[in-house]
Amino acid sequence: MQQKAIYPDLDGRSVFITGGGSGIGAALTRAFARQGSKVAFVDIADADSEALVRSIREEGVRHAPLFLHCDLRDIAALRESVARAQQAHGDITVLLNNAAHDERHAVESVTPEYFDDRIAVNQRHVFFASQAVLPQMQRAGGGAIVNFGSVSWKLRQGGMPAYTMAKASMQGLTRGLARDYGKQNIRVNTLVPGWVMTERQLKLWVTPEAEREIDAGQALAGRVRPENIADMALFLASDAASMCSAQEFVVDGGWT
Ligand SMILES: NC(=O)c1ccc[n+]([C@@H]2O[C@H](COP(=O)([O-])OP(=O)(O)OC[C@H]3O[C@@H](n4cnc5c(N)ncnc54)[C@H](O)[C@@H]3O)[C@@H](O)[C@H]2O)c1
Repeated sequence: MQQKAIYPDLDGRSVFITGGGSGIGAALTRAFARQGSKVAFVDIADADSEALVRSIREEGVRHAPLFLHCDLRDIAALRESVARAQQAHGDITVLLNNAAHDERHAVESVTPEYFDDRIAVNQRHVFFASQAVLPQMQRAGGGAIVNFGSVSWKLRQGGMPAYTMAKASMQGLTRGLARDYGKQNIRVNTLVPGWVMTERQLKLWVTPEAEREIDAGQALAGRVRPENIADMALFLASDAASMCSAQEFVVDGGWT
């Protein structure tokens, strides 16, 4: 098992991850399981999620992750999943609001129904997952929420305005919650990934032209991997970040 850093306080912690079955989320699930955390994650990708649980279990971690099928557009189902995670693992003290979907759309083609669906996939559940875990964090004496932003809107990326709008709003929620709950030792931050080489990104968007764009944009050579995002998430969740709240933490190879 390869781990760059070990955070003893994450051992045994009850961690809830949205969209933890594939992409960056899968790296988060694996990284926290390797720290000894009790991870519950929700996703709609059943086959990927089940394969991930098997693969992590085979590593011999102490607590195999708990996969809960949940479409985050359904807030009642999200609340039910949070309750099931709490029953299985105890009060949730780390919430990673990772799930989103960067489906492309042209402005002219967006109907009110499609717009609402993008908001439901990319924004609304972040508020309601936070609302559901906050009483647990208060009871436990503290916690950490990490909301996932994006460099896309900072780089003025077009082609998905409802997505970039939702991603830009993450920091607004982060700062509002950080103020309301900070005195109760609940820290809220935004983790901003750069262009991360997930299987999906590689399959859909990372063309030779895009590779040149990354090389020109990033200060660092190489590529941002899901593991690099997980490394920052571990730090933000752990007591190592005990005086970090209300901020954006960007992992983009020095692009923005
Ligand atoms: N990959 C990148 O380059 C990149 C860049 C900037 C920001 N981000 C952000 O990082 C986070 C993760 O990105 P990713 O690239 O891994 O995304 P992804 O699309 O590869 O994975 C997202 C996960 O969420 C799940 N999911 C999607 N809709 C869902 C729903 N309705 N209910 C439950 N689960 C659902 C998917 O099945 C998947 O497992 C997102 O918040 C994204 O905005 C990613």
